[in-house]
Amino acid sequence: MKFIKTIAEMSAYSARAKKDGKKIGLVPTMGYLHSGHLSLVKEAKSRCDLAVVSIFVNPLQFGKNEDLEKYPRDMARDLEALKHCKVAAVFAPEPAEMYPDGYCTSVYVSGGLSEVFEGEIRQGHFNGVATVVTKLFNIIRPAVAFFGQKDAQQCVVIKRIASDLNMPLEIEIMPTVRESDGLAMSSRNTYLSAEDRKNAPVLFQALQFGQHMIELGEKRSKIIIREIEAKIDGVKHKGIDYVSVVNPDTLEAVATVAGKVLIILAVRFGTTRLLDNIIVD
Ligand code: PAJ
Repeated sequence: MKFIKTIAEMSAYSARAKKDGKKIGLVPTMGYLHSGHLSLVKEAKSRCDLAVVSIFVNPLQFGKNEDLEKYPRDMARDLEALKHCKVAAVFAPEPAEMYPDGYCTSVYVSGGLSEVFEGEIRQGHFNGVATVVTKLFNIIRPAVAFFGQKDAQQCVVIKRIASDLNMPLEIEIMPTVRESDGLAMSSRNTYLSAEDRKNAPVLFQALQFGQHMIELGEKRSKIIIREIEAKIDGVKHKGIDYVSVVNPDTLEAVATVAGKVLIILAVRFGTTRLLDNIIVD
């Protein structure tokens, strides 16, 4: 497994792979890897000739009062896990390599998608994600890039920028990997207190409850949302940021369920915000 820290070396690696006719599958991450990340790696390996994983805690996507400094990091453990998965290369640049002095270009996501849910709460977040992902695509030139449904809005935004900017690659979305009690795996779960960790599975239970309501014929989003919120309120938490029933492609709110919908939510436990979602077909 190659461990690459510079853009020059990564670009040269990709150019060589391309010349040899090899398809690269890219899994962008911020490290502190768990089975959710590794499911993307596994898919990249099976779908492409070479799997490349990037590990970069991207400062541009963190707000001023967010957890950039304390975001969990363990490069040694991550490399061990990736070696085990037989990844071809890991790209782990320093912030100054990605954003050297004088850096001034951003990919700006405008309109509804960037102003609702996570975009509203974390101002500028999706511009940071769009910018780093665009840079990674340009440096690594993957045929396919793999993302997790766990971050549903991020998936919609990335699909949109790839299409809007005519990026020559496929975006593949993989299902959310969960702990045995249903909690969606996340690097930020390590922030949870023992009590919050015990309560957090209520999110998936509430989403499944919403799914069952729809399956049993309930079509009114208002009622579904009310029931989901009531379930969540059954445990101690620090606030529901949003629960919404939306169109899975546009994230526009749906008043009456007809066809495929996405139920998304964000809830605060202690200082940690947990996101989860479920697709109901
Ligand atoms: P990170 O949170 O490290 O996640 C990297 C990828 O793993 C994302 O596509 C995310 O959706 C996926 N992922 C996380 N938890 C998952 C789970 N439980 N099941 C399946 N997939 C999961 O998301 C980011 O990093 C960054 O925003 C990034 C895209 C790398 C840009 O900086």
